[in-house]
This record gives sequence, C-alpha cells and structure tokens, in this order.
Amino acid sequence: MSTDTPTQPEQTEGSDSTPLGIIAGTGFQNLTGLAVDSRHEIETLVGRPSSPLLLGHWHNQAVLFLNRHGELHTRPPHRINYRANLLALQTMGVRQIIAINSVGSMHECMPPGTLVLPDDLIDYTSGREHTFVDAMSSLEAHVDMSEPYSRLLRQRLIAADRSGQATTQAVYGATNGPRLETPAEIRRLRRDGCDLVGMTGMPEAALARELGLEYACIAVVVNWAAGFNGSSAISLDEIRQHIQDAEQALLVLVDQLMKDN
Ligand code: HPA
Repeated sequence: MSTDTPTQPEQTEGSDSTPLGIIAGTGFQNLTGLAVDSRHEIETLVGRPSSPLLLGHWHNQAVLFLNRHGELHTRPPHRINYRANLLALQTMGVRQIIAINSVGSMHECMPPGTLVLPDDLIDYTSGREHTFVDAMSSLEAHVDMSEPYSRLLRQRLIAADRSGQATTQAVYGATNGPRLETPAEIRRLRRDGCDLVGMTGMPEAALARELGLEYACIAVVVNWAAGFNGSSAISLDEIRQHIQDAEQALLVLVDQLMKDN
C-alpha cells in the first residue's frame, strides 16, 4: 500500500478503470471481497474526507472505498464531512456510488438482518453542511430529487440480488442523531411514510445529486426502530448481532454486483 497524492487512480490491470465508489457505514468497514492496492489521502476545497480512500479491485471492477465514520469509527453521523467525502470520490474519478447504511426498521416486512434498497427518502437532519451551492457557484441550485436514488444503479442492485430477498421499495427517514429516536418520533416518521430510519442517508444523497454522481443505497436493517413491534430498549449487542446476520447477504449482493459489471 502507498500513500499517494490526489491524482486520478491508475488503471488496475484487466479492470474497469472507472472506479465504483463505496461508502461504508457502521459495521461494514471491512468488505472482504475488496483487494486494496493503494491508499489516497485527499484534501478537498471543503476539507478532508472521513478516511483515506482505498483504491482496489473486486473481481474486475475498480473500486474506491471510503469509511464514512473514519477508519477508527471516530466520527458520529452529525460530525461527518459529507461534502468532503463526495468531492474526494469525485476528484478520484468516481461517477457512481453505492452507499451502505445501517438503519432501524419500522416495517414488519423489513426485519433486522435484512437488506433494503430504498427508493425514496425524507430528510429530518439539521445543522449539517448540506449543499455545495455556496462553495461552487457553477452548480445548479435546485437539483431535481423526484427520484432521489439513481434508477440505473438501483436496477443493477436489484438484478444483482439473485436471491430476490432484498426489499426494493422503501422510504428512508434521515434523522440527525447521534441519539436514537423516541417511540413518538418513530410513530411520526411512520405517519410520514418512512419505513426505515438512519442517520447518514442525508445530506449524502442530495450532495451526490448536486455533483451529478449516480448514487444508490443498500440499507442494512440492524434493529427495530424505537418502540416498534413491541421492541424494548435498543441495545448495541442486538445491533452487533444483526450486523453479523446481515453481513453475508451484503457481501453476496455486492460481490454479484461486481461480477455483473
Ligand atoms: N435510528 C437511527 N439510526 C439508526 C438506527 C435507528 O434505529 N439503527 C441504525 N441506525
């Protein structure tokens, strides 16, 4: 491994040279199918990303991998520099991003341990740097979010899910955290039409759209949302267990996506 300057990534022999970006969240920092070739420390005009970018390959697909919470998981959701993460990936040549987000579920059909490919979202976050418009005057201020996740990438994910087990229609509610929600807040999210709740889905999706990047989310359900389905307090042990339960299905899905490319 080498620490390089922010240049375009070199072509990995026999691979698709345009790297697919993967932004990995809690519990999924080490995707075992990824062979890492180099580490890239990037400084962007809006600061540093959460972690060095790992350039590697997965089957024949070049991949740029980023730990959303940092390599030592030191950045809570409200302290992540989402703008720097996306700009760093774009600077390194990424055009498409798969985001992996752990979430709570408020839908009986999406129990802990399962994968969901959400198709819509609601942003409840506040106080986050949520736009590039102030930093880059050339950008369109009012990007269209009528289909917030990339149709193309979602189709590829759905096709890669050979088991057909992943739920493919769901609304992701992005809360500010870092605390978990109250039962009344979850009931409100449900009334709003949310199926999932997580803390990192926004502003990431909107920032990707502002940069013209294709972006889709694999949501990994790691707990029932607060008070939902008779659940009592949400424990970290429970979350860890469900991360383990979902890990294999996640790897199979991402592996197939890389093979299909
Ligand atoms: N709420 C918010 N974010 C989360 C949850 C939750 O229940 N589980 C994992 N991320």
